[in-house]
Amino acid sequence: MKFHYAISGDDYSQAGLASTDIKKKLKEKGVLPQFIRKAVVSMYEAEINMIIHAGGGTADVELEDDKIRIVMTDTGPGIPDVEKAMREGFSTAPVFIQEIGFGAGMGLANIKRNCDELEINTVPGKGTIIIMTIYFYDQSQNECP
Ligand SMILES: Nc1ncnc2c1ncn2[C@@H]1O[C@H](COP(=O)(O)OP(=O)(O)OP(=O)(O)O)[C@@H](O)[C@H]1O
Ligand SMILES: [Mg+2]
Repeated sequence: MKFHYAISGDDYSQAGLASTDIKKKLKEKGVLPQFIRKAVVSMYEAEINMIIHAGGGTADVELEDDKIRIVMTDTGPGIPDVEKAMREGFSTAPVFIQEIGFGAGMGLANIKRNCDELEINTVPGKGTIIIMTIYFYDQSQNECP
């Protein structure tokens, strides 16, 4: 199954709608709650980032029996130093954003923790593509003891 969402960059009241819709689809599909949580947390953080830092964008989701792949694309300012941006506590969010409860610098670290695979392609001045994959089975069970 494939889903496409346009994420508006100027309406904070719409923030989180795409990830909430995906949560519904995952529940309908009968995906286990721990995997729903990982997928929805990751997508929500990327969705909010797209609204706050990049003026909106699009989300393309591919839902399969064993995994979900979420591609978030924006044409915002890009991330000049990804390694730095991934650090907990690093944020460029302005004060008015902090006042509405965002900008703690926790989003990307949270995404990293919850995704099984994470790819960030970003070009300063052009935009950012974030690709997140979550598997619906316990990865550790495939590892050698
Ligand atoms: N899509 C994006 N486009 C441009 N810059 C981004 C994007 N996503 C993240 N960033 C940059 O990376 C920084 C860290 O992002 P992160 O999500 O970790 O924290 P935050 O959004 O600032 O705060 P929080 O997520 O805790 O509300 C942001 O402050 C911003 O500078
Ligand atoms: Mg964030």
